[in-house]
This record gives sequence, C-alpha cells and structure tokens, in this order.
Amino acid sequence: MKNIDSKNHLRGESIYLDDIPILAGTLFGVAFDSPVAHGEIKKLDLTAAIQSEGVVRIFTAKDIPGENQIGGIIPDEPLIADHEVHFCGMPVAFVVAESDELARMAIRKIKVEISPLPVITDPREAQKKGHLIVQPRTFKIGEPENAFKDCVHVFEGKADSNGQEHLYIETQGAYTLPMENGAIKIYSSTQGPTAVQRACSKVLGLPMHMLEVDVTRLGGGFGGKEDQANTWAALCALATYHLKRPVKYSLHRMEDMRMTGKRHPYSSDYKIGLDKDLKILAYEATFYQNAGAAADLSPAVMERTLFHCTNSYFIPNVKATAYSCRTNLPPNTAFRGFGGPQGMFVIESAIAHAADELGINASEIQKRNLIRNGDEFPYGQIAVSEANECWEKAEKIFDLQKMRNEVAQFNSKNQLYKKGIALMPVAFGISFTKTLMNQARALVHVYTDGSVNVSTGAVEMGQGVNTKILQVAAQIFSIDPSMIRVNSTNTFRIANTSPSAASATADLNGRATQIACEAILNRLKEVAAMELNTTVDSISVNNQCVFVKGEKSSLDWRQLIMAAYLRRVSLSEHGHYATPEISFDAKKEKGHPFAYHVYGSAIITVTIDCLRGTYEFDSVNVVHDFGASMNVIIDRGQVEGGIVQGIGWMTMEEVIYDKDGRLRSNALSTYKVPDVYSVPKEINIDFLQTNVDNLAIFRSKAVGEPPLMYGIGAFFALREAMKAFNPNAKSTFESPMTPERVLMTLHSDELIINN
Ligand code: MOS
Repeated sequence: MKNIDSKNHLRGESIYLDDIPILAGTLFGVAFDSPVAHGEIKKLDLTAAIQSEGVVRIFTAKDIPGENQIGGIIPDEPLIADHEVHFCGMPVAFVVAESDELARMAIRKIKVEISPLPVITDPREAQKKGHLIVQPRTFKIGEPENAFKDCVHVFEGKADSNGQEHLYIETQGAYTLPMENGAIKIYSSTQGPTAVQRACSKVLGLPMHMLEVDVTRLGGGFGGKEDQANTWAALCALATYHLKRPVKYSLHRMEDMRMTGKRHPYSSDYKIGLDKDLKILAYEATFYQNAGAAADLSPAVMERTLFHCTNSYFIPNVKATAYSCRTNLPPNTAFRGFGGPQGMFVIESAIAHAADELGINASEIQKRNLIRNGDEFPYGQIAVSEANECWEKAEKIFDLQKMRNEVAQFNSKNQLYKKGIALMPVAFGISFTKTLMNQARALVHVYTDGSVNVSTGAVEMGQGVNTKILQVAAQIFSIDPSMIRVNSTNTFRIANTSPSAASATADLNGRATQIACEAILNRLKEVAAMELNTTVDSISVNNQCVFVKGEKSSLDWRQLIMAAYLRRVSLSEHGHYATPEISFDAKKEKGHPFAYHVYGSAIITVTIDCLRGTYEFDSVNVVHDFGASMNVIIDRGQVEGGIVQGIGWMTMEEVIYDKDGRLRSNALSTYKVPDVYSVPKEINIDFLQTNVDNLAIFRSKAVGEPPLMYGIGAFFALREAMKAFNPNAKSTFESPMTPERVLMTLHSDELIINN
C-alpha cells in the first residue's frame, strides 16, 4: 500500500504547523537568545524593544507563573535564562508583536550585558573538572581485565565522532490558542505531544487537563523534536496565558540551527584484544558524551551507547563506561540511533585498527565475531540472531568476491582515483530502554455508516506510521482502507503518550490499534451471530461481508454496524498495549530490555579523487532483516533515507562550534548535507524476510533507526580507498571524513593512528 500522505505531499496540500489557518488576533513571538555561551546576566535592557513598532509585550523569566523548568529527565533546564546563561542560543526573553517581522525587528533593540564565565566545549575537559550530568555507568560481562592477558593481539586507541544537525525540513515551532476557562490548545511540531503538555503544565502551573496538544504531522523529526519542541510551545503558551490571544512562533532556519541541540559528539577510548584465530576475547571502551548545557535526553542516549557498544558482535569479556559531560553547547539530544551509532563507530574503529596492524581486511575480524543465537549481549539479553544470515546472504547475492576483484583491478589501473570497500553489520535493539515507556493507546470509533476513525499516540513525521496504523485497522476489520481515517495525535483523545521515537512507534501504537479493533470486532461477531441465528464461533468478517462457517451471508459491514448500533452495542474502543517480556535492572545493568533486535549487513563502495579529496559512493548493498514487512514501499524508503543520513553524518556533515561555544556551521551554506548529487549511485536493498515470532506489529520489524548505522561503513570504505592510494597515510578515527580531511590524510605520510 502506498503512503496515504503521498498525494497530499505531492500537491502541497498536507497540513504542517505553518499551514494551520491563522485566527484573527494572532500575535507572533520570537525568542531573544544569548549571544554568550556562559555568563552572568548583569543587565537586560528592554526599553527600546518595548517601544518598537507593533510590540505587545516582552516576556522574561519573571513572567513565568509556574516553574521556570523544562528539563524532562533531570530538572536542570530553565525555559528562559534567569541570572545565568549556559549556552549560545539560550532564550533570554520572548518578544510578542503584531507580526513576525515586527517581533524580529524588536529583538535587535534588546541590549544585554553578560559578564562571561569560563566556556567548556570539550567533553573530556568537562569530565576532568567533574561536570557530569549523571553518574557514569558501566556495562560489564566476563572478566575483561584477565581476558586481555590471554589475548595474542591487543590494540588501544581513540575514536571521535562529531554531532549532526537534524535538519528536519520543517523547523521547530508552535501555535497556541486561548480556550474557555483558561485552557490552552497547543499546536506543536513535536514527536512528544505529552512531553509538550507536561512542560507547559509545569511552566504555567496548570493541570495537564487544561492543555490540549494537537499534532497533525511533522516535516521531519529525526529525534530533534522528541524533547526540544517543548521550548517553543512553552514560550507561546506563556504568552497566550497572559495575553489571552493566539500566539505563533515558527523558527527561522538559522535560529533553529543556533538554538537547538544536535546529535551528541563523542570522544572515546578503546582497547581490543584478539586471540590467534581473530576471535575478539576482550573489549574495553570509555565514552565521553558531549551533553551540552542541560541533561535533555542525554542520560538515555548514553545508555543506548552502552547497549550498542559491541554492535552485532559477540564478545565474552567487555567493560564499557560512559560519562555524560556537561559543556556550554546547546543541550544535545535524540538523533536517529539515539547514541547507538556513536557506540558502534568505536567498536568498528577498534576492529579497523586491529586489521591495519595485522595486515588483514577488517571484514575477516567482523565476520568471525558476529553474534549467534544464544550468545549473550553485555547487558544480559540472549540473542535471537540474524547477523550471520544477513552477512552471508549479502556476500553471496551481491557477489562480494567479484566486487573486491573489481576494486583491486580499478586500483591497479588508476593512479589518481582509488576505490575502497567496507562491510558494516548492524544489530539494533527495539524498545525504549526505559521499560515503562513501552506502552501505547489507541482510540477506535466506528460510525453508523461503517466508516472508521483511529487515534493513537503515534506522530506522523514522514516515516509512514499512519499508513501502517491504517493497515492494521483495515486488516483486523477486513474492510477497505478508504473506509478508515487516521486522526491527528491529540492529548485530549490519547493521554500519556510516549514520544514517537526508538523506532517503536508502529509496533506500540499498531498493537494498541490491533487490540482496540479486535475488541470491537468481537462484539460485532456477537451481534452477527444474533442477527443470523448462529454461534459466534462460526462468524467471520471478510472483505466487508459477514461469513457463517465460511459461507457468505446476507449481512455486509454497513448492515452489521447498524445492527450493532440498534442493539446499543458499543462501536468504540480504547486499546492499551504494554510490551510484554521486557525488563532491565539498572542496578545490575542486566536484563532483557529489548522486545527484539533488528539485524543487517551493508557493503559500501566508494571512489575518491586523490587530487581533490572528493569522493562518490558507488553503491550501498544491503541485506536487511525486516521480519515480515507489512509495507515494503515505506520500509524501503526508511532504509534508503537512513543510509543517506548515516553517510552524511560520517562524511560531509560537520558541526563546528568555536572555542567560545558559538556555532560556526550555522546555515546551509556552511553545513553540508547529502543532496541528490552526493547520494550513492546505487542503493540495493534485499529484504531478509523471516518468520520468527517476535513482538513487532504483524511480525513487521521496526525500521526507523537501524539503517542509519549502515552509513558508518562509508567512513571505513573511505579509509580503504585512502590506503590504496597511500598505504602509509593511516587516518585517525575522527569523523566526519570530509573531503578536506580525506585530502589531508591522503598526502600526509605520517602514521598518526592513536594520537
Ligand atoms: Mo528517536 S532518536 O528515538 O527520537
């Protein structure tokens, strides 16, 4: 089935935040944000700005009726700076005016005096000074200290990965409306409607039932709107609270880039030990996460780094420690993969390092150590593994040997162009690592004409979740998809939603929809049995018709619905789903946190221009474990998009803050993302369809995040190509591997590994 949004998207008829019709009397807000990364506010002069044309009011921390606090996991993040600023981009005041332009003009007239305090941008420096967001955590299995003694080969080094700008096409924003009796309706571009509701409740000191958050869809989220949509919603709600007027704030791109956090940069140390047969016996890693100035989701992101620190390998002796380090950058946040990619980059670096030193191809080590059924992850969960199936199938169907031969031949014939090839296996755990978040609800109404309306906690952000939910309802009821509509996500219809995140949205909300639809269907079958004078067991509904013992009856779907209504049988149901079988004991750091894992293997080839340092990806060939895909078109789109986004992170996307904590890559002229010219020339995706019983919706495995990590292979393919040009020019494990870095590496004969 095609994505139900595709036609509207193509025609420009889809409703995003900025497409909501503006009510008469609407005011427009703009945040005035700190130009300094750390300091004490000495004076805030608003006189000229207040007198500026069209300005209605300027809000500061003093105007907050509730708590000046939007921190989700840890209450360490003021909505508006009070005495101190902690990062460039931190809101200091909120100007509300008759138009967006007038508000922006007034912003320039605000004068602030900030006496600077020391600025820290480096996570290792923050850790040394004891600036941690939470206590460090350590995952351990086996006896790594002893195991290193049994290793024939031991290598140590450092691997650093940089941040990544989410660059959702739709920037952040909110539109708030005053309702009766002090209630506020909040349109928000958020992955977490309940997170917005909770934050606004705290800031305004209003109970949650006064705050209706409504989300039709987002123009992309990628994690950036899991927690960071709260700020704009709370600012607008604050203004609506005081002014009793609708208030809208839709961020400009440069404001969005400057004021929001990104993927966490990590600096990490590794130590890897192998036996003579290339089995990895022991692994140690220390991760320094650059959390930025507030916790945001950093502790949870850090946890997932630990969960994925051994990627899809079985290593019997592991010790991994992670520090969440407080710096003076905007609070870094969720980004597709949620810390997993950062953990995987380090183990892949360690393996590449070992392969270099041993003079072998990294894939020999990778393949030898893939996790098998029954092996234990460092956190105690036993693997139900497709890792070997994916790898072996990829080798076979894409003819790895032939690809290698072609690369070798090309490299022997060409001096200034070199090709490289790398494999990237992935294992990604599906479920929120915080067990309690793995719950969802769906509200299903069947109307008397037989049409169906479904509401869930899922937020459509381009990933196609609404299409999948519609498919679930259509399949359970066995009615035509055109009879079903999926509603906006609304906190008055569905309460206490978990954010649309962790790749689990279709699983959780799809299951809740299934439960609600099945409950209605069971009641309908009872009605049908009464209508047709038979037993409930003999009734089935198929293709909008009622069947008795497989024989088509005179009753169709519409008649059945009307019969139920006339008998006063409920045609509505609220379904609740909580993932079974999962648990985690954070004291022991052991448990069974994931409903299941998604596996896959990618083969990536690249050609570099050794004079210029530029490169093109020739192909990405993937065998990906979809379980039993319920929507091949959507799932293929997710894999393709994830791969390109992952390659962007590893290669061309470079977030640069200067030592004063100012974002230098603050526009699309200085921050490069993959465009149509830089995507791989070919992406081939093979669907490994497995029928293993899992906890996915209809056994169709989660697909949002795992494919991003295939992009890590791009970094290692580039390394291989560089080695083909200059065997002595070993690169450091620092991403992104931009063309500039490739060029400098190619022509430096220094062995600078491990520095
Ligand atoms: Mo996603 S990175 O779990 O919002």
